[in-house]
Amino acid sequence: MRKYDAILEQLRTELAGEHDSQAAMEKTVTRLKAANPSYTWVGIYLLHGNELVLGPFAGKPSPHTRIPLGRGICGAAAAERQTIIVDDVSADSRYLACSADTKSEIVVPIMEGSDVLGEIDIDSDQPAAFDQDDKTLLEATAVMLGPKVKGVWRT
Ligand code: SME
Repeated sequence: MRKYDAILEQLRTELAGEHDSQAAMEKTVTRLKAANPSYTWVGIYLLHGNELVLGPFAGKPSPHTRIPLGRGICGAAAAERQTIIVDDVSADSRYLACSADTKSEIVVPIMEGSDVLGEIDIDSDQPAAFDQDDKTLLEATAVMLGPKVKGVWRT
């Protein structure tokens, strides 16, 4: 059994009956924030035009509520359409600082086919906090979220 199997099952159950995109995102950030004490900030950005716009988050308010594609770790993950793990944010020139406490970060795109709909962004106050189990949990969560957030900006 993987470290996060129980969390993933809980999320799967919670999201299955949730057809409101905002509520689905709120449940997801709340559940993920509780999954690991080293997750100090959990947020969901949705792509609107060429910008990532911050939606629900758990943690302190971030100054980065709108991030252009290609800027920051967030913009890079969306542009590359793949998960990015940064073990030491101070050593990554792409990094946009959100909190002085942040030491490492993971960004996981939410996709629909080859289109990026948004992403899950998690900061940690621990260096190298994210491993393969974290990546697996968050990529599975992103797959579940795709159908929930699809169309948010098209309505
Ligand atoms: N660190 C991110 C910006 C978002 S804050 O972490 C909430 C980045 O480099 O894109």
